[in-house]
Amino acid sequence: MSISIGIHDLSFATSEFVLPHTALAEHNGTDIGKYHVGIGQRSMSVPAADEDIVTMAATAAAPIVARHSKDRIRTVVFATESSIDQAKAGGVYVHSLIGLPSACRVVELKQACYGATAALQFAIGLVRRDPAQQVLVIASDVSKYELDSPGEATQGAAAVAMLVGADPALVRIEEPSGLFTADVMDFWRPNYRDTALVDGQESISAYLQAVEGAWKDYAQQDGRSLEEFAAFVYHQPFTKMAYKAHRHLLEFCGHDADRDALERALGSTTAYNTVVGNSYTASVYLGLAALLDRADDLTGRPVAFLSYGSGSVAEFFAGTVVAGYREHLRTEENREAIARRKPVDYAGYRALHERSLPADGGDHSTPAQTTGPYRLAGISGHKRVYEAR
Ligand code: CAA
Repeated sequence: MSISIGIHDLSFATSEFVLPHTALAEHNGTDIGKYHVGIGQRSMSVPAADEDIVTMAATAAAPIVARHSKDRIRTVVFATESSIDQAKAGGVYVHSLIGLPSACRVVELKQACYGATAALQFAIGLVRRDPAQQVLVIASDVSKYELDSPGEATQGAAAVAMLVGADPALVRIEEPSGLFTADVMDFWRPNYRDTALVDGQESISAYLQAVEGAWKDYAQQDGRSLEEFAAFVYHQPFTKMAYKAHRHLLEFCGHDADRDALERALGSTTAYNTVVGNSYTASVYLGLAALLDRADDLTGRPVAFLSYGSGSVAEFFAGTVVAGYREHLRTEENREAIARRKPVDYAGYRALHERSLPADGGDHSTPAQTTGPYRLAGISGHKRVYEAR
């Protein structure tokens, strides 16, 4: 009999500041209905000057190593598409900040928003090889589009940390997976830019094509039938996208895609993403956190995941929620991570958006803004300097 492997613990963190969409709408004269209803977003997380993907990742991962022994973690896989260095893995800073043992491999992984799902699957492979080991999977991203562009309303920032191991306490990840890759230019970020480029409508079509492709492969691999799933956790660049995607899947499979069917499948998965914004690699796992925190008892129920990364790669897979999972949730901490954010006004957000770290190799400290446990204290000789409180 094959061993049960999956997500043993899940914790997330987001930024110090939050911009309500009402402030953005007031600035650019957009009807707020377009944001609240049209794309399904209410606010976006905005990182402080001294926050980045590393500080958010360490903040997400620290409660996991506080609850579990560090000794079984021999691998850290850090998934991101807003990387801070072309060579050094962001996870190496996190490894140091949270005090993991030196007998550990750390690597960074990229394929747009899909990267964390690759990390999860690779982690499962490592645990299958040696079930005594656990893998820390971290997804951390800051989503940044040009000011006054259509994508601006879908920005956000968050990190999710997941401990992957045998006999998981939360979700057992199943085989098979449905896979899909297509070479498309729907969303990308060349190395010389800090904001993403996107063809908005093309990106929506590419996502829908990927849902269909990944589902077809899942069905061919003898996966479960659609009716078996208690809920569907989609990548949510904006929460309305999950509704578009699920409607597409239901119709493709010849089912009615009425309001009730969509709400039943997705209703509990959007609560965090609607107020955090796009967190790229973390988004689908923020959807899972919301589902586990908010849905009625899911014990023993299969849940579907659709992970999409522009460019594009998608994976459709299933997980079964484990008996007793509620005792291991971090529902209060999750609510607090969102509630503790401080509202920033439009001018304050714009100033943060326009900031970039000096690239002159000198000594520069960053303004002390975050009240979180880790901060980017500055940059010195081209080296980022982090500190823990
Ligand atoms: N009240 C209610 N609804 C309104 C409204 C109002 N007053 N005004 C407009 N709307 C609706 C529109 O009808 C539309 O709904 P439908 O899509 O259901 O027709 C919706 O609001 C959005 O309106 P537009 O299409 O006119 O909006 P836009 O052109 O400004 O851009 C966007 C929308 C393309 C999503 C843009 O925000 C964008 O480019 N975002 C970034 C790209 C993205 O997130 N793509 C998603 C797929 S790619 C992916 O998933 C990877 C990733 O993470 C980036």
